[in-house]
Amino acid sequence: MREDWIQPILDEAKLQGLERTARVCPEAGGIIKIDGKEVLNFSSNDYLDLARHPHVIDRSRQALDQFGIGSTASRLVTGTLPIHEELEARIAKEKGYEAALVFGSGYMANAGTIPILAGRDDFIFADKLVHASMIDACKLSGAKLVRFAHNDVQAVEKRLEQYSDHAGRKLVITESVFSMDGDIAPLTEIAETAEKHGAMLMVDEAHSTGTFGPNGAGLIREHELESNVTVSMGTMSKAMAGYGGFVACSEKLRQLLVHSARAFIYTTAPPPAVIGAALGALDVFEASPRLGYILQANADYFRSLLHEAGLDTLQSQSQIIPIVIGNNEKAVAISQLLRSEGIIAAAIRPPTVPAGSARLRISITLAHLVDDLERAAKAIINAVKDT
Ligand SMILES: Cc1ncc(COP(=O)(O)O)c(C=O)c1O
Repeated sequence: MREDWIQPILDEAKLQGLERTARVCPEAGGIIKIDGKEVLNFSSNDYLDLARHPHVIDRSRQALDQFGIGSTASRLVTGTLPIHEELEARIAKEKGYEAALVFGSGYMANAGTIPILAGRDDFIFADKLVHASMIDACKLSGAKLVRFAHNDVQAVEKRLEQYSDHAGRKLVITESVFSMDGDIAPLTEIAETAEKHGAMLMVDEAHSTGTFGPNGAGLIREHELESNVTVSMGTMSKAMAGYGGFVACSEKLRQLLVHSARAFIYTTAPPPAVIGAALGALDVFEASPRLGYILQANADYFRSLLHEAGLDTLQSQSQIIPIVIGNNEKAVAISQLLRSEGIIAAAIRPPTVPAGSARLRISITLAHLVDDLERAAKAIINAVKDT
């Protein structure tokens, strides 16, 4: 009786072609086995194929053996183990910042950090397409949220000018590689504009960590913008193939986050095995600094096959390649047809993407060889034409 409000919501979602289920995938990674058959998985964020990398697993196992299963307390109590500080020092060095702080997830890194940078009397200027975790963090902060047109530097400028007379801190937030469009923000120009207006800049590098820049350090590092970007946020859950999030920043800001970021303080410290895996992934980035370049060359090739057949991949310039279908049901039908042919290409629908832009979101990973890319491109082109 008290739950009679639930079914109408679920029915409405189904009617709109927006029903969501957490489907079981028997394995993680870019190439998996389902019912004994090899399946190409283009919906995994394991971009560098590290989820089963022997060194990453070894490092994780060593940490497990040394420290046990859990950190057993929050960071400010007794949950900070030497391995947490080792990882933070390593991230700071790789990202080119004074300091870094690890959080339980990328979502928590955004939820913990943004409300510290901006509060009730302040302003946050956010790209129209930033990730839900950034938007939720903005809401949590209580700051006035102002959106600007996607990747549009003039729109950033206009918005900052519009609020130039207002007192209060100003924070611009964007992503370097956008999670659903795979395009790249004009970081240098946005940094210049933010600086001109005395605003801080925070960049979410969830999808460019490991996949761009020297040793996979990301696009802030590639463009030498460390001193212009107040916070470089990243995750250990995509190219690092594990779990967890982090921010790289000044030592002073780190101190403030330790002192007051609720998503850092009021939760148990990430488990040792997860931290060990992240250290292992950073070892691989350092030992094989060209992995990101190879990934991007493969993504370029895949995109060129789709373009030759007239498919639109928006402004994608990364390993994330959207194929916009538009209609929700059609996107799901194409995804299901591909699945029957041994190809996983998840249909992404609103509200994750704007209404009318349902799409297949393709993630190229290093598990996919040239033959796999060619087979998948052919199947996708046929499925889009025939559906
Ligand atoms: C751009 C972006 N930021 C943050 C997150 C959250 O990271 P995590 O999955 O580690 O919580 C994700 C993905 O989930 C993302 O795509």
